[in-house]
Amino acid sequence: MPDLIDDYRMLSGAVDTLRRYWSGRQVILLANQFTHSTQLLIDEVSACGATLVGVVTRPRRAPERDVPTWSCAERGIDLSPHEFEPFLSSPTDSLREWLDDIDPTQSCVVLGSIWTTMSHLCGRPVHGWRRPEWVAWEDKVRIERLWADLGIPSPRHVVMSVDDPGLREQAMALDGGRGVVMAVDSSQGVPGGGGKGLRWVRSPAEFDAALKSFTGRTRQVRIAEFVEGVPCSTQALALDAGIAVFEPAEEAMLRDPCSGDFRYCGTSTWWRAPDAAKDTIETYARDAGRRLDELTGYRGIFTVDGLLTDQGFLATELNPRGAGGLGFRPGWPEFPTYLFHRAVQENVLGIVDLPPESVQAAFRDVIARRPSFSGTIPLGTGPVAADVVRPGTGTRAYTTTPSGATVRYQVGAQTVRVVDVAPASADGTVGPLIAEFVGHLGHPGLVSFSDDSVRSTLASVERAADGKPAARTRGAR
Ligand SMILES: Nc1ncnc2c1ncn2[C@@H]1O[C@H](COP(=O)(O)OP(=O)(O)O)[C@@H](O)[C@H]1O
Ligand SMILES: [Mg+2]
Repeated sequence: MPDLIDDYRMLSGAVDTLRRYWSGRQVILLANQFTHSTQLLIDEVSACGATLVGVVTRPRRAPERDVPTWSCAERGIDLSPHEFEPFLSSPTDSLREWLDDIDPTQSCVVLGSIWTTMSHLCGRPVHGWRRPEWVAWEDKVRIERLWADLGIPSPRHVVMSVDDPGLREQAMALDGGRGVVMAVDSSQGVPGGGGKGLRWVRSPAEFDAALKSFTGRTRQVRIAEFVEGVPCSTQALALDAGIAVFEPAEEAMLRDPCSGDFRYCGTSTWWRAPDAAKDTIETYARDAGRRLDELTGYRGIFTVDGLLTDQGFLATELNPRGAGGLGFRPGWPEFPTYLFHRAVQENVLGIVDLPPESVQAAFRDVIARRPSFSGTIPLGTGPVAADVVRPGTGTRAYTTTPSGATVRYQVGAQTVRVVDVAPASADGTVGPLIAEFVGHLGHPGLVSFSDDSVRSTLASVERAADGKPAARTRGAR
């Protein structure tokens, strides 16, 4: 306990360091969209003593903000999210002039999102940008090399060119009865998290559709056996003196049995993974962080994502960036988590040189004392319960059926933000109750990891014809 008090003191000291660093600075924010996280970042900036002097945004300005704003949408520049950063890298004269107006001496610091990969905005430094050599490891094909080198198991898989005529045969060979998961690489840009670069394929028709949807989006394809297990993500922090690893969190990653899509609905720190599995995952995350440091000098938060199966943990991807669902803020709302992560990325002294063991202990304690769920879910196209569409700003409660758990949530324009759940399961998993809640929001039929009703016809077609083909696989089993 005395040690833990020291660990907490160390983190309080980190808050003072961040306040000293930011005090008196002027900030320009890049907002590709206005999310809850954008607001939290703005709040952290002012809590640390800096002043937000301008916002450059892709959509229309956020309502009720009294800060000079340059909006692409309001100026008739209609961009999709992935076009925002290329636009900022070669901005129009009108944006340049506007920036020079609010910041004539180019002394502002620019803050973007966890995805921002640009180092400067018209001569002003971006604080906490993602280096290209870091982004490269978010590639779901490339990462298999790192898993194999470090002996970190991943689902049985093959990697092939997207136009290889043998793809279909390999997919059939990998199907163990529940289908396969096909993933694109990042050769045409990182597809973004939340299932966007993946397709669950359970029939020849779905295979054809997946391949068609991959055309022009990837050079290589990873085909992996679909494995049963709890989807999970473990966050860790690469510091100068080593890696702090936090506990595995459950990802409420739902599946659409009709389309084969994965839908990310949030992350929960209520889950209590078995101790042995936790220890193994901690070792994997620390090894991965060390290797990332050796290869790229990585600093900051990263996640190791995968599934906890009956045969142990199988890794599916590494996110070398901040990610949602750390679960720290509910336990210590005043701690500027986003600026802390960015300070580590930027090697700010007094932060990047903190002792990893102490950071690990204090973070774990804060997260475990106040388990939480963080997730924002768009309204679906199916029937939505009347209380969800009723206007109002308060927090509402819904009791899920049949699991009888309580979900507390707030309703936005097109989305619902879950502020709390009270899981009823023995191990604290929330996937099944989130699937029930999501049905209430107009997404009927989505299922969680606990549903094993869908069978694949992919391999059985081939088996009926001439026996099971052999896969040229790597990975577990
Ligand atoms: N081989 C697999 N078998 C079963 N589910 C998988 C497999 N690969 C990925 N998934 C599912 O997809 C989810 C997201 O995978 P992940 O690799 O983290 O990609 P991303 O976060 O970019 O969507 C996992 O949480 C899991 O539910
Ligand atoms: Mg992931």
